[in-house]
Amino acid sequence: MSPEEKQTITRVSLFRNWISLCGIIVAFGSLFAFLLIFAIDVLTPGSNPYMGILAYLVAPVFLIIGGVLIVAGWLFRKHRIAKATLHGELPPRDIELSRRRNRKDLYLFSAGASIFLLLTAIGSYQTYHFTESVVFCGQACHEVMKPEFITYSHSPHARVSCSECHIGSGANWYVKAKISGTYQVYATAFDKYPRPIETPISNLRPAQETCEQCHWPRMYVGNLDRTYNHFLADEENTPFSVRLSLKVGGGDATQGPIGGIHWHMNVANKIEYYATDDKHQNIPWVRMTDPQEVVTVYRTADFEGDPEESAIRRMDCMDCHNRPAHIFKTPNDSVDLALSIGSLDRTLPAIKKTAVEVLTGDYATEEEAMQQIATKLDLRYFEDPRVKATIEVVQQIYRNNFFPEMKANWQAYPDNIGHKNWQGCFRCHDEEHNAADGKHTVRAGDCNACHTILAQGSGEQLDQLAPKGLEFEHPDGDFLGLTCSDCHNGTLQ
Ligand code: HEC
Ligand code: HEC
Ligand code: HEC
Ligand code: HEC
Ligand code: HEC
Ligand code: HEC
Repeated sequence: MSPEEKQTITRVSLFRNWISLCGIIVAFGSLFAFLLIFAIDVLTPGSNPYMGILAYLVAPVFLIIGGVLIVAGWLFRKHRIAKATLHGELPPRDIELSRRRNRKDLYLFSAGASIFLLLTAIGSYQTYHFTESVVFCGQACHEVMKPEFITYSHSPHARVSCSECHIGSGANWYVKAKISGTYQVYATAFDKYPRPIETPISNLRPAQETCEQCHWPRMYVGNLDRTYNHFLADEENTPFSVRLSLKVGGGDATQGPIGGIHWHMNVANKIEYYATDDKHQNIPWVRMTDPQEVVTVYRTADFEGDPEESAIRRMDCMDCHNRPAHIFKTPNDSVDLALSIGSLDRTLPAIKKTAVEVLTGDYATEEEAMQQIATKLDLRYFEDPRVKATIEVVQQIYRNNFFPEMKANWQAYPDNIGHKNWQGCFRCHDEEHNAADGKHTVRAGDCNACHTILAQGSGEQLDQLAPKGLEFEHPDGDFLGLTCSDCHNGTLQ
């Protein structure tokens, strides 16, 4: 080998081979994709967690592949040169632009590489948009998210994207969401997720950063007029409605009188509590700090001492509105709704009772439920020409609210907004929570504290409004001082 030839083999020149060149393109492409995704992700508010998989998993894998190729090409070439030198041969020549064939190859290679880079850019941008979409969140992992997606699409928030409530903006949450998003994809791929999905979601953002970005907490709501239509479980499906004036009120003096249910809105007051269970259903200790910084602690008689500060939660929107988007209707409420809008025919004998019964059956799959609902209703009403339509409506109710494969239904997710089927408000507003001086909060027995009953019953009774409020006439007689949820659980009671 002549000294000139030897000189040309420098460390850098060893990279001049096709394998290393491919590696450089792959590495460059993935770096570019990473930067692009990272930039859009950081610049768009409320982006989604699954992007983390692209930016922090897929892109780096390609970067590593590129790196390995570069080194492999380098080593391979070094090895060949060493071998040639050993045998006293001329070392294999590397890519040289002075050679025509190499030049042509390089043009082709550059064209290929440019197309590759362009496709990488378009590809990552498109993937970004896809993972951002509601379709991806709710449907891509179809099986897992089906319950949340379907209930969400029938909720008042159907037009709010998943990420607006579940992620929001900010760097800290961004990273948390990336980590949990990556874990979720892993859990889905390897079937490691719980059924039903557990709540409360430990890393859900506080309401101030999600709900309150759209809903102004200082807004004065005043009284809300709501009618709750029910039907009894008798042969006639006797209607029974309650029309309430809910004293929602507000918490900010510049907007309206302070008071009512939204007084908890934390505008001036601070309410904190300690729950003994994950789902926050059992609350033995409540602390309230008023605008003058006067602190009052309400506790149940059997709870002694104070909880650890770290276990105390500050009350926010989601302690009452914990089901704003995923509303799993109870069998009772869903049949009442169908009867009140007329999609189920009220003149079918005992349809309320029958429909609730078939909906509450224990089914392993949706398919089994569809068959059983059809068989049971057919058996009950086979002589009636309306049976086919009835079956369809009940099946639809089932599909919208019950998800046996994921074990998701009303029983899995307590709703804290009222007090009929779950403790809800009565978790704190019962007869047991007292302050040291015997002072207490609004009590469950004080039926006019949170709402007044404007009318109740059926037919003409509902036309007689009572502005001062009526005493509740329970359709099943006196309930002997029991709380509503001792009997009512969303089924026939
Ligand atoms: C209006 C805000 C909002 C929107 C929009 C929203 N969620 Fe939720 N989501 C919540 C709240 C609040 C919870 C309940 C948290 C709790 O109880 O701890 C929840 C709970 C969940 C859960 C846990 C299981 C459950 O049912 O409680 C999953 C899974 C979920 N959401 C997925 C989604 C998906 C997928 C979308 C979009 C199709 C979505 N969410 C849209 C607010 C929202
Ligand atoms: C991106 C904006 C947005 C976010 C975030 C959001 N909401 Fe809403 N919310 C809406 C819209 C829009 C409506 C429907 C208003 C309408 O049509 O009257 C609504 C309606 C509501 C209603 C009234 C529903 C009814 O039955 O009348 C409640 C209660 C509510 N939101 C609570 C929440 C809570 C709690 C959160 C946080 C978990 C939240 N919202 C997050 C936009 C949002
Ligand atoms: C103490 C429980 C409680 C808390 C805390 C609470 N709400 Fe409400 N909110 C209610 C009740 C009860 C209603 C009446 C409607 C109902 O029963 O569904 C209501 C009604 C609403 C409505 C509907 C108003 C309308 O005009 O239709 C919105 C929107 C709302 N709340 C948003 C919020 C937001 C945002 C927060 C947090 C800043 C919040 N709420 C905190 C109990 C609460
Ligand atoms: C975590 C415990 C807790 C829960 C749950 C809770 N509250 Fe309260 N609530 C309080 C405390 C504490 C006060 C303040 C008592 C006082 O005045 O000292 C209060 C006060 C009130 C008041 C009186 C406000 C005023 O004008 O002074 C109303 C009305 C009320 N709550 C309604 C509700 C309703 C409706 C729900 C369910 C949707 C609910 N609360 C759920 C703790 C709670
Ligand atoms: C701490 C506040 C509070 C107290 C005290 C209270 N309620 Fe309610 N009640 C509510 C709220 C909030 C709702 C609305 C729930 C919803 O929107 O789903 C409600 C709903 C109702 C409904 C309609 C439920 C339905 O699904 O048909 C009836 C009936 C009712 N209350 C009766 C009573 C009676 C009787 C008492 C007294 C023993 C009482 N309430 C005490 C807050 C309260
Ligand atoms: C001792 C058990 C018991 C208690 C406690 C109880 N209920 Fe009921 N309730 C019943 C029964 C049984 C019926 C009749 C069910 C039917 O025929 O559909 C009924 C019917 C109703 C209905 C109409 C039908 C329906 O399915 O919704 C409403 C509304 C109602 N109760 C509200 C309440 C409220 C609010 C409370 C608490 C203040 C309460 N109940 C406490 C047993 C009870």
